[in-house]
Amino acid sequence: MKSLIFILTLCIIAVFSQAATPLITLSQSHSQPEANESFKVNQAKSQNTASSCTYTVTIKTSCNSPSYTRDQISLAFGDAYGYQVYVPRLDDPRSGTFERCSTDTFQIHGPCTYQTCYLYLYRSGYDGWIPEQVTVYSYGYNPVTFYYNTYIPNGIWYGFDYCRGYLPSTAAEK
Ligand SMILES: *[C@@H]1O[C@H](CO)[C@@H](O)[C@H](O)[C@H]1NC(C)=O
Repeated sequence: MKSLIFILTLCIIAVFSQAATPLITLSQSHSQPEANESFKVNQAKSQNTASSCTYTVTIKTSCNSPSYTRDQISLAFGDAYGYQVYVPRLDDPRSGTFERCSTDTFQIHGPCTYQTCYLYLYRSGYDGWIPEQVTVYSYGYNPVTFYYNTYIPNGIWYGFDYCRGYLPSTAAEK
């Protein structure tokens, strides 16, 4: 186990030292999503900021997911500077959202952010749901893909925070 961690660390260092575009590399490293009990939706900031940017978010539901889900699913993502986009409800079982093996595309309006470096999903309900991957496209920045491939636990923000490993100096200027 220790040697595995050591090898992984070496790989990560090797990848980082060669990376011209750190975020793409990070998204390809396929790290595991984590529960974040201290994650808070930044509602005040989201409301005070005009919804002046549009994002396209694609969510592919795994072929191992339940055939459909009636769970309530929320999304939050943002940058390293505290700008956050929060969507309280993405689910809509009547239109077949998040069915097994399907890809759903959402046009989301929210505050403008710099490069997306974290993303969390929140699920509440009894059906369960396994997203395969979530990709955020925002104008002027590299699209970022977050790989889940695992059940989202009930009632907790669950996802990825790459912001600490992110180098702001490489961000494209808005
Ligand atoms: C959880 O989210 C907060 C932001 O609300 C962040 O500062 C913290 O680093 C996150 N924790 C983990 C383990 O990613």
